Amino acid sequence: MNEQALLKNIRNPDASDITVYEKSGGYTGLRKALGTCSPDEVIEKVKSSGLRGRGGAGFPTGMKWSFVPKDSGKPHYLCCNADEGEPGTFKDRLLMERDPHQLVEGMIIAAYAINSNIAYVYIRGEYFLSISRVEEAIAAAYAAGYLGKNILGSDFSLDMYIHKGAGAYICGEETALLESIEGKRGQPKLKPPFPAVAGLYQCPTVVNNVETFACLPHIFRRGVDWFTSIGPADAPGPKLFCLSGHLNKPGVYELPMDISLGDLLENYGRGARTGKFKAAIPGGVSAPMIPSSGFDVQMDFSSLAAVDSMLGSAGVIALDETASIPSVARRTTEFFSHESCGKCAPCREGLTWAAKILRRIEAGDGLPDDPAQLEVLCGGIFGLTFCALGDGAAWALRATLKHFPHEYEALIKNRSIPA
Ligand SMILES: Cc1cc2nc3c(=O)[nH]c(=O)nc-3n(C[C@H](O)[C@H](O)[C@H](O)COP(=O)(O)O)c2cc1C
Repeated sequence: MNEQALLKNIRNPDASDITVYEKSGGYTGLRKALGTCSPDEVIEKVKSSGLRGRGGAGFPTGMKWSFVPKDSGKPHYLCCNADEGEPGTFKDRLLMERDPHQLVEGMIIAAYAINSNIAYVYIRGEYFLSISRVEEAIAAAYAAGYLGKNILGSDFSLDMYIHKGAGAYICGEETALLESIEGKRGQPKLKPPFPAVAGLYQCPTVVNNVETFACLPHIFRRGVDWFTSIGPADAPGPKLFCLSGHLNKPGVYELPMDISLGDLLENYGRGARTGKFKAAIPGGVSAPMIPSSGFDVQMDFSSLAAVDSMLGSAGVIALDETASIPSVARRTTEFFSHESCGKCAPCREGLTWAAKILRRIEAGDGLPDDPAQLEVLCGGIFGLTFCALGDGAAWALRATLKHFPHEYEALIKNRSIPA
């Protein structure tokens, strides 16, 4: 059994209570950060920990913070991305529902580092329990002197607010999320400028994922060496993997990122429902699927990129031999088409068109050159859209065409999948 850090207290029904959190070492990381480090030293520590964002892109956290200008003369904002809209992803919910002070403590450390006095937690609107647990945690942190004016006797002050999302997947994209907090329609903005320079209300802003923040108290309490001792050198620290789909034991598992996809599915997910896997999606439905012949890949950012996929949100969706890949492609493409904000034509039109073709293939009315048409459409979307929603949709669809062309051909020719 691997040592658990992020999920250590998850089975304790009282873990969201601040006194229980403090008894297990909670808020000592914050005390260390505020008591022994300047904001720049906090950034340097996070850089040397090698922590990479857990929200999707794996961007180095300390480096992102260092892009915040020191002398902008504007307020700085900190935002937590708790939108968790990527299908197959349910780790942030677990952290917020069961042990929310890890998030609150991590956000206070981050706000201190980037010199921010206002922080927002943008929580998916359907996450009712997460919202109330984080609300309670914020209130308890104020009462204990971890939030508000002159935190722990320092000259650092921070206010923290919750903003509820309204169920749009696109609002998980960081610039759309910031627009949504401003009360505007949630649509992405062109980058650059990046939020670190011009984010919320055109002020320097850092957006990080729930799990990214939750790692911070552990880094400051247990040290950088402890953090870097876990997992591969370029992807250190504990990682939460969400296992779902055709598995015997779905759930959230905390493991180092040097585990292989096969090991994760067989030894933690306890194998395929029918005994045999066909493929798996390693990082939420935006991540290209990997056929079972490639399951020896390590579950870290660079290893998955090397096989033309990505770790993404670490939402691992297993597909056993009963899965129809064109049907999976149809469902995921319909999801992306529905969630497209419509701001740019390649995403709005391309995904609508792709979904239409996939629907007719699935219905048995596919045309012989439909797979080629889908390829052309993906080529017209990938790399050409305003934000990464279109990229993910096209990349994921392409993987189904690349790895399982015979399923499309058979469906078009025989109106059935070969056994
Ligand atoms: C369409 C789309 C949806 C996204 N949804 C989420 C989300 O639900 N949660 C999240 O943390 N990041 C999401 N991201 C990534 C964010 O834009 C951003 O990179 C992330 O919050 C940064 O946090 P990190 O550096 O801690 O990973 C999404 C990106 C895109 C393009």
